[in-house]
Amino acid sequence: MVLLPLRLQQVLAATQSHGTVADIGAGDGQLAIGRARRDGDLVIATEIGGSYTRLVAAVSAVPEVHEWIETRNGQSLDPIMRGEVTTIVIAGMGGHRIAGMLPDALARQPTSIVLQPMQHAEAVELAIAEQQCEVDAYDVCRDRGRSYTVWRLVRREA
Ligand SMILES: C[S@@+](CC[C@H](N)C(=O)[O-])C[C@H]1O[C@@H](n2cnc3c(N)ncnc32)[C@H](O)[C@@H]1O
Repeated sequence: MVLLPLRLQQVLAATQSHGTVADIGAGDGQLAIGRARRDGDLVIATEIGGSYTRLVAAVSAVPEVHEWIETRNGQSLDPIMRGEVTTIVIAGMGGHRIAGMLPDALARQPTSIVLQPMQHAEAVELAIAEQQCEVDAYDVCRDRGRSYTVWRLVRREA
């Protein structure tokens, strides 16, 4: 079994072990595959453009998770309907892009949102302070000489 990079292990650890997960910008599907293997719950893995084809190929190469991973093609939170998922994960993008997606992620009404930017963590911090959410868990890890922050957020009731 392929071991996830440390930063993705950190994201997986922050992700609840029950319910449906949306992995936005899933890349080559490493996290989605890891989550499906760990929990055997549905993961909706999304990508855009040519990266979507690569995601589908990567997931197809791991037959034991087919049942648990649904791939969807689309921009940001567009492929996810309100109330459809328990957890939304957005990892591996710049902090400004993730910050820009946070309002739409909250509008989908998940139980929790897990964020991990590649850089500009301060932009994510600012967006969290401005939105109707609270930090439920926070962690920092080092992976291959870089530092990564992960937040698990819950919606603040109005
Ligand atoms: C560096 S990869 C990270 C993949 C994976 N989430 C991870 O953490 O390893 C960033 C991915 O986000 C995707 N992406 C960037 N902007 C996006 C957007 N607006 N909507 C959906 N996916 C996006 C890119 O296509 C790319 O595959």
